[in-house]
Amino acid sequence: MKFVSLFSGAGGLDLGLEQAGWDCLFATDFDPAAIATLNANRGFRLDGGRAAFGRSVIEQADIRQLSGEDMLAKIGMPKGSIPLLAGGPPCQSWSSAGQQRGFEDPRGRLVDDYLRIAAEIDARWLMFENVRGLLTARGIDGVPGSALARVRQSLFQHGWQTRVELLNAADYGIPQRRVRLILIGYRTGDAPELPRRTHASVPGSGLRAWVSLESCLGSIRRPDPEEVIRATGKMALDLQDLPAGTGAKSPGKAEATRPGGHWGYKQGAFIADPRLPNRTVTASAQQDWVRDPELGLRRLSPRECAAIQTFPANWVFCGKRTDQYRLVGNAVPPKLACRLGEALADHVSQDGAERVEIWEGLNPLPKRLQGAISYTMRDELRNGASRRAAVKRPLTTAIL
Ligand SMILES: C[S@@+](CC[C@H](N)C(=O)[O-])C[C@H]1O[C@@H](n2cnc3c(N)ncnc32)[C@H](O)[C@@H]1O
Repeated sequence: MKFVSLFSGAGGLDLGLEQAGWDCLFATDFDPAAIATLNANRGFRLDGGRAAFGRSVIEQADIRQLSGEDMLAKIGMPKGSIPLLAGGPPCQSWSSAGQQRGFEDPRGRLVDDYLRIAAEIDARWLMFENVRGLLTARGIDGVPGSALARVRQSLFQHGWQTRVELLNAADYGIPQRRVRLILIGYRTGDAPELPRRTHASVPGSGLRAWVSLESCLGSIRRPDPEEVIRATGKMALDLQDLPAGTGAKSPGKAEATRPGGHWGYKQGAFIADPRLPNRTVTASAQQDWVRDPELGLRRLSPRECAAIQTFPANWVFCGKRTDQYRLVGNAVPPKLACRLGEALADHVSQDGAERVEIWEGLNPLPKRLQGAISYTMRDELRNGASRRAAVKRPLTTAIL
């Protein structure tokens, strides 16, 4: 079973799909460090001895300049012959850490290039991964949820129904509480299955316990002392007495319903709790701190972040340290991608005959996800005005 990968990054999604038996024919990204990484890992031995990216054309390109026809010509495949188009457009414009400018942000419009290429190659399935913020992101009408609705509607007009879920990587045995939106586009009669979770915060009923950060870090080499970033100066003072699982607090956000403001942790100032799966590994160099019995309070290294993301220990990441953090943090955990790939492959092999399915329009989102969008709408009514006022007149830095 073959696939084409867009926005391939460090190849987390591609590696997982290949581990599940899929075969990557084309991978592309515009980031030179990503392309160097994909090339450096070409030939990596997968279980069973197959070589990763063994048959892939790997091409550095801006997706806005790529055409589906050229891509198919380069891999010698006709339109409609590639079952799966994998890849998620960049998430920054929908990330809760960003400005949530959605489609006003040129990065938000890359979704349109994704849709264009999907139609040009006429893939049977689309696998799209994004931050959870895409669920409630506002489109140009400013209504929470309308950005995703627009994506789903465009896919529907091109003949793809969509299945959308929020999956927590920790529920699949990954040592990370990373919640991501997964969208699978499918043609009529092809409704896919998503993988069942195997782990839970409270084990039981056949589910195993979440995998902790401690057990992940215990299974890999500790970084060398000269490689680690230690807390110094004000950061060291801010963090010194804080227990694991907390961090230095950021100035509060003014909110009508919470007169004291809504408090979060300052970015880059959180101490990981080793007994839990780690918080989301981000694309920044400011990863969580760990209290290391030998090296003191130090940041997680790029290699440790890669292990938390379930990359193999010998997967190469090219570029400077900041490039490596970015490539690792942007990736889909290969183990989650593998579960997704296996579920889709099972579905394909069981199928043979297509199921009868009548579409009366775009599928509704699952109730739980609709509830999250309604909550955001209510929250906007209650707190939107006070938050916008606070942006014009920022709160003074709080005393911790
Ligand atoms: C979320 S990351 C993808 C991660 C990847 N799926 C993985 O699992 O490792 C998004 C990627 O889109 C790439 N990208 C952003 N804008 C692009 C553009 N205009 N053309 C091509 N690639 C682009 C970035 O360089 C980044 O590697």
